[in-house]
Parts: sequence; C-alpha cells; structure tokens
Amino acid sequence: MENNNEIRLIQLPRIPDDRGNLSFIESEAHIPFEIRRVYWIYDVPGGEIRGSHAFRDQDEFIVAISGSFDVVLHDGTKESRFHLNRSYKGIFVPRMTWRTLDNFSTNSLCMVLSSTSFDEADYIRDFNEYLNLKK
Ligand code: TYD
Repeated sequence: MENNNEIRLIQLPRIPDDRGNLSFIESEAHIPFEIRRVYWIYDVPGGEIRGSHAFRDQDEFIVAISGSFDVVLHDGTKESRFHLNRSYKGIFVPRMTWRTLDNFSTNSLCMVLSSTSFDEADYIRDFNEYLNLKK
C-alpha cells in the first residue's frame, strides 16, 4: 500500500458478478489508515452543503455508496473538486484538509471511513483559522 499522505482517488477491488457486483475495503490495505469509525450521510435535501471544516488529526476515506456528490478540497493553497459517483472509488482526505460536500443527487449515500473516534475538539470550523494553521 502506497503510504503517502496526499489527497488521492483510490479505486477499490471489484468482483463483478451476474448476480450483482461486490467491493470491499480492508484497514491499512486499500486505504492508508486503520478504520476507527464509520459514518454516513443520507437524505440530503437538494442544494444542501455538508462539511466545510478540517480535522487536526483525522484522516478520512469518502465513498459515494449510492448516487453522487462532490467533494471539494482545499489544501491551504488551492481548491480541487472531485465528483464521486461510483461505489468502487473513493477519495482519501488526509488530516488538515479543508473539505466540503455538495451537489448531492437524490437518494445519495455518502460513506465516510475515519481514522479516529468522534472528537469535536479535532474539528477546525473556521476557514481563516485553518489557513493560519497551514502557514
Ligand atoms: P459534522 O461532522 O459537523 O457534519 P457536517 O460537517 O456535515 O455538518 O456532524 C454533524 C453533527 O453530528 C455534529 O453535531 C457532530 C455529530 N457527529 C457525531 O456525534 N459523531 C460523528 O461521528 C459525526 C461524524 C458527527
């Protein structure tokens, strides 16, 4: 496993089958961290935006299990937008990345694998504070 800390799209294993396809993720094998928590975002009303924060210590892997949405990432210097619309492809978001989720399709399901358990103190919710910390 490539163990770099860069933002990147990761293609997951896919077992195609006439009965339906299957994909999977193993800690530290397909993603570069040990999974401590899984959460998901669903029933997002049209036009809503989620996220808009960074994490001090948490690494994440985000997959559109169903439907589609955009992951907008700012690394302190530049912004990139990634459209996720496959259940076998996700994006690795390293700690200290400002991230926003938008453009959710109807019935989309956003699954997030996290390297930490929930800790509100890990959040940076002010963009200017984030930029200052990145300097
Ligand atoms: P938050 O991460 O702020 O979501 P978003 O950035 O998309 O608005 O989480 C929303 C609320 O849910 C917030 O009050 C914290 C709570 N929460 C937990 O209690 N546990 C979790 O694992 C997560 C991700 C959120």
